[in-house]
Amino acid sequence: MVLACHNLCKAFLEQTIVKTGSFHIEDREKAALIGINGAGKSTILKMIVGELAPDSGDIILTKGKTLGYLAQHQIPDSNRSILEELKTAKADIIRLEEEIRKTEQELADLTGDTLEARLLEYHRMTARFEQESGYSYQSELTGVLKGLGFTEEEFTKPVNTLSGGQKTRVALGKLLITKPDILLLDEPTNHLDLNSITWLETYLMNYPGAVLIVSHDRYFLNRVVTKIVEIEHGEIMTYLGNYTEYAAKKKQLRDARLKEYLNQQQEIRHQEAVIEKLRSFNREKSIRRAESREKLLAKITPLEKPEEDTAELHFALEPSCISGNDVLSIEHLSKSF
Ligand SMILES: Nc1ncnc2c1ncn2[C@@H]1O[C@H](COP(=O)(O)OP(=O)(O)O)[C@@H](O)[C@H]1O
Ligand SMILES: [Mg+2]
Repeated sequence: MVLACHNLCKAFLEQTIVKTGSFHIEDREKAALIGINGAGKSTILKMIVGELAPDSGDIILTKGKTLGYLAQHQIPDSNRSILEELKTAKADIIRLEEEIRKTEQELADLTGDTLEARLLEYHRMTARFEQESGYSYQSELTGVLKGLGFTEEEFTKPVNTLSGGQKTRVALGKLLITKPDILLLDEPTNHLDLNSITWLETYLMNYPGAVLIVSHDRYFLNRVVTKIVEIEHGEIMTYLGNYTEYAAKKKQLRDARLKEYLNQQQEIRHQEAVIEKLRSFNREKSIRRAESREKLLAKITPLEKPEEDTAELHFALEPSCISGNDVLSIEHLSKSF
């Protein structure tokens, strides 16, 4: 297990966001965090990374495990180029490479015991370099950037000249390269085109660590996740399986609740009809029987009517009048950076 959340509780003033919630993420598990807009998904991720404190409950990141987080709204800014920015995630391996080059030059001037000792050191460093995929980090960086939709010409562009969406893609790329034990991604597909989404699906499916993703894209989720963590009316529920399996399970639960509700409504109406009948006889005995039935009826706790299933919405919009062709026209616009 890499992450566990126990009995989370969180409110903003009067507004309860999470009233009861526990879930956990196993090593290498790919899970989705879903819920309608404003349900509290971003808030849960912020509590996990420590940006917000829960009112009560525990969040446990297993000792020694690393965590990476892509916020829903973030503004990574830097003077570095896109490629240089990604390289900062590989600072350790780049430093080691420099050390190896330096040692190679020194070796030429050494003899005897000092040479032996330095050679041993050199072999140790190259072994580590190889073990940490030092020979392939350049192609790894290039692969991730291309996967996320950057062209090679763009690699040298300074990050602070990019659009918000491009900056988020740089932040995502850097996070993927860092390879934390658990990745928390808040709506990562919002800034990606279809090709990049497909690339990210495959990347995450093969990712060696765990992933917790917030996304409304059910096709994306179907390909990537094997667990759904749902936040609804402040309650956190876990469903094993992909999105389709989750949707089927939800429908089953809702149908069962609706049936129970309808049965109860029928029973209540039946009892009310019998009571009315008994009262209409207006005899002492029948009134007593009506009263005892009323007492029984009062003891029934009415079930709440399950909400309509809003997962599928079908509607067609027809314009009541045909609008003009020009919605926006701009002339002589100029803009420079
Ligand atoms: N720092 C905050 N202070 C007060 N209310 C907040 C704060 N952050 C979020 N909220 C409110 O909490 C609710 C859940 O927000 P959020 O976690 O962003 O939802 P989601 O990511 O599921 O769309 C929203 O109603 C939002 O307005
Ligand atoms: Mg959000």
